Amino acid sequence: MSLLDQAQLGSDGRIPSVGGVPDQTGHKILATLVQYHRSQLESPDFNAASGGARLREMDLFDANEPAFHFVYSLLKPGEPYSNVVMRSSGIRAIRYTARTTPRTRRVVDSGAIAYSQGPGPTPAAWNPTLIETGRIAGLVPDTVVNQIDTLETNVAQYQGRNTNSHFGGGFMGSQAYMLATWNNTNFRIWAKDLMADALCKDIPVLRSIDVLQAVKPTSSFAWRQGISCMQCHETMDPLSAAMRTQGLIRASPVNDVRFWVARNTDRPSAPYPSMSPDPDYSRRPPDFSLKYRSFDGTLVELNGTGIPALGQALANRDDLYVCAAKRYFRFLTGIDTDLRDDSDPLNPLDLSPSEKKYRSRVIELGRQLKQDQSARELFKRIISSPTFIYPDRGV
Ligand code: HEC
Repeated sequence: MSLLDQAQLGSDGRIPSVGGVPDQTGHKILATLVQYHRSQLESPDFNAASGGARLREMDLFDANEPAFHFVYSLLKPGEPYSNVVMRSSGIRAIRYTARTTPRTRRVVDSGAIAYSQGPGPTPAAWNPTLIETGRIAGLVPDTVVNQIDTLETNVAQYQGRNTNSHFGGGFMGSQAYMLATWNNTNFRIWAKDLMADALCKDIPVLRSIDVLQAVKPTSSFAWRQGISCMQCHETMDPLSAAMRTQGLIRASPVNDVRFWVARNTDRPSAPYPSMSPDPDYSRRPPDFSLKYRSFDGTLVELNGTGIPALGQALANRDDLYVCAAKRYFRFLTGIDTDLRDDSDPLNPLDLSPSEKKYRSRVIELGRQLKQDQSARELFKRIISSPTFIYPDRGV
């Protein structure tokens, strides 16, 4: 626990310093925790996911940001765990370097017009605040505003927007997470990943009986016609609807930096399309439905509108916290636990007695986390458990 305290974030968001320099142990712990949380994400790298190296985006958005949200809740005193999905701002890294001439660009320094805005072939210069380079020394709520003044005519209505906007919902509403999960068409990967990254749930997470009514053999959507298809799609598709008003805009055709905006809604709510495409889908309010079976077999179905409401829905359930307990239990003891629905008569889990024991322990730890909202206390409970102290005894 004292090691964890060496990486505790002060009121300025920084880890402790020794002689004016960030404490090296603290830096290593912070960097390790960021790395661990990033490794837990389904899509950890937005550049790989974007189908090509859009290197300049790495100067504007930190691919570690989704991980920062988890680490901030662990290392910032008093920060509730629920904020991983409810925080209304992004999180930004404070970094430091021993270089006398700090690099101004994370990846490339490509000369004259590094960043541009507006139509080509010679768009106007743009001077956004870039993310810091160097070694991580702290985390702070992101207050950077990178306004864009000129855009191509087809997207000119978004001029003046902040390209560094955060859309609520903690990690899930960050520019980095949305870029990492973007499949160039819709938010299915975002929704699939969210189930895994927030709740440790790999679709399908509905039983066949849960989707029978949603199956429509005469629908023009292929996935609507099959029970097994809908066991995935009935979770993923109505969940992705929370993101329907988000649009990806290019700053200019030349540098190809992209950023997310929230589009206006100018059409009324409508039932989720089940038979054929809805041409006004992305212009309607972002009504979503969160549907899955919890670890104990409870059928969860929560409806709401928009990303912050989705964050609230996730934070109200035990699964968010039990997932955190599973991750930290594995991180600290090496023991993985199976949190799938354990009461589906068609898919029995058949866990061994020891698997059952660790599973119940993790569920209990998760429920305690939901109560006290302290990821630090969760750490402490795991470290003081016999499983951590006597790893070879199977306790
Ligand atoms: C294990 C979960 C799962 C099952 C089962 C599943 N899908 Fe999907 N499906 C996905 C995911 C994830 C995507 C998004 C993939 C992407 O965007 O790269 C997807 C995307 C699709 C798409 C692309 C839709 C579009 O236009 O963007 C179609 C079509 C589709 N699925 C049809 C089906 C059909 C038909 C079945 C049943 C035979 C089915 N799926 C079963 C997970 C599933």
